[in-house]
Amino acid sequence: MIENAERSIWRATSPRIEADAELPAESDVVVAGAGLAGAAAALMLSSRGHRVVLLDAAAVGARTTGDSTAKLSLLQGRTLSTLLERPGPAALRAYAEANSHAQVWLRDRLHGTGAEERRTAYTYATGVEGDEAVRREAEACVLAGLDVRVHGRGDIGLPFPVSSSLELEDQSQLHPMAVLAQLVRDARRHGTVVVEHCRLRAVHDEAEGLVVETARGRVRARRLILATGFPALDRDAFFARLTPSRQFVGAYRLPAGMAAPDGIYLSVDRISRSLRTARGEGGETLLVVGGNSYFPGRDPDTSQRLDALDRWTSIAFPGAVRTHWWAAQDYRMANGRPFMGPISGHDGRVLAAMGFAKWGMTNAVAAAIALAGHAEGSPPEWAAPFADRAVGRRGAGEMLKSNAEVAGRVVTGWTRPQESYRDADGSARARVIRRGVLSVAESVVDGTHCAVSAVCTHLGGVLRWNSAERSWDCPLHGSRFAPDGRVLEGPAKHDLKPKGGAS
Ligand SMILES: Cc1cc2nc3c(=O)[nH]c(=O)nc-3n(C[C@H](O)[C@H](O)[C@H](O)COP(=O)(O)OP(=O)(O)OC[C@H]3O[C@@H](n4cnc5c(N)ncnc54)[C@H](O)[C@@H]3O)c2cc1C
Ligand code: FES
Repeated sequence: MIENAERSIWRATSPRIEADAELPAESDVVVAGAGLAGAAAALMLSSRGHRVVLLDAAAVGARTTGDSTAKLSLLQGRTLSTLLERPGPAALRAYAEANSHAQVWLRDRLHGTGAEERRTAYTYATGVEGDEAVRREAEACVLAGLDVRVHGRGDIGLPFPVSSSLELEDQSQLHPMAVLAQLVRDARRHGTVVVEHCRLRAVHDEAEGLVVETARGRVRARRLILATGFPALDRDAFFARLTPSRQFVGAYRLPAGMAAPDGIYLSVDRISRSLRTARGEGGETLLVVGGNSYFPGRDPDTSQRLDALDRWTSIAFPGAVRTHWWAAQDYRMANGRPFMGPISGHDGRVLAAMGFAKWGMTNAVAAAIALAGHAEGSPPEWAAPFADRAVGRRGAGEMLKSNAEVAGRVVTGWTRPQESYRDADGSARARVIRRGVLSVAESVVDGTHCAVSAVCTHLGGVLRWNSAERSWDCPLHGSRFAPDGRVLEGPAKHDLKPKGGAS
């Protein structure tokens, strides 16, 4: 039985979030993107007396924050050992400090709201390869000053054996939409104007400041903060430095008598699994399971990933029934650390936050702290390494490899045999066809026919059907489009052109 498909448990149980009707003509700071980074930055700046406009192309929490698994944890899978390996110990310590400040700031705002539940966090392995990752992560945690406990085989509250694990007490699981509701409410109390369905389109420099162009008019401002996940303005070719990673998440009802695990968990095996609990619409406890990330647009049949998530859950938790499923993506910078700082041009007046690599509950807030500091001319000391977009020698190697892969996919996209897809129940079918020199993406979903260009409006990748989510996804840099061609997310700024004549 599948209910509420493609709607995260957090959206299904979100408190109402109020917004404003009018875009003001002037402001001190415009913050584009009302996910966690944007909402936190708006609150910080407005509470210090700045006039702030927070705008979103869709709605508050419409993208990754509203679809996260939302563990607010300093224990983060393989993250710290990866940072220790590259860029190195100084960046590792700065990262740990940034994340720890962010955790404290957010918890202070959420006290007594019910949006946060304290939990013990575990990183675990079920085999030899994972054991080695746990060992390396334990070393990095010690260098980062985290008080972790290391376990061999033993019970960490899961119904299957683990071969080793790390434990860190007093971490949290969040209801991310309740978090946003609280931050937005507080920001509005401090005068922030929140405008939804208002896409940032461009920014122009003037002697006195900036003119910010949006889908609903212009705003004059002194600063612009891009908190749009993938940066909405990309002067620095960030698309070549950011790798998207998409993931399916399911919420499951456990059979009567089966207790849900009490902690928050992430495995470091080859296929990672993320586990936590959440409350369903009726207040019942559900198990939330995520994992097995992939590059959007590169999987020929995404439905199989969702099936695999169900299969794994039904083996680990026999009798579990999926009640919700959804998917989301986040981005990783080629230099291995998040970016939080000024982008090129604009005399430092345009700032951006990105590359949280699925640890944005802390990093988005750290970015807000750093960018609010930059906007006031006094960023915190720990923020310096995160304003650096240089990739280093090894990062450059990885970038070259990834861009060569992209170049290869440009060619295979154009020479790929025509592909067609059909849902098992016949409710959707899609295909990419060639009409002369044109590539056309045709779909029929629940009886609605659409025919649009099959060529991504970012840099020309040939799109692929995402059978589970019923979208057209780009294998080059991860842009996604609805069947009717509307941009959903990623670096693309323009919708796909209609091509007419769907069959
Ligand atoms: C499956 C998954 C699980 C995760 N689990 C965890 C976890 O357990 N713990 C953790 O710490 N992190 C986790 N993360 C990461 C975390 O959720 C994200 O890093 C974080 O939510 C990103 O917040 P954000 O504000 O940067 O972006 P978003 O929440 O994506 O917000 C960006 C906003 O910008 C808007 N926008 C886009 N373009 C424009 C434009 N041109 N103009 C105006 N608005 C625009 C969008 O509509 C959107 O609302 C996970 C991520 C994924 C994908
Ligand atoms: S996302 Fe860059 S070409 Fe499609």
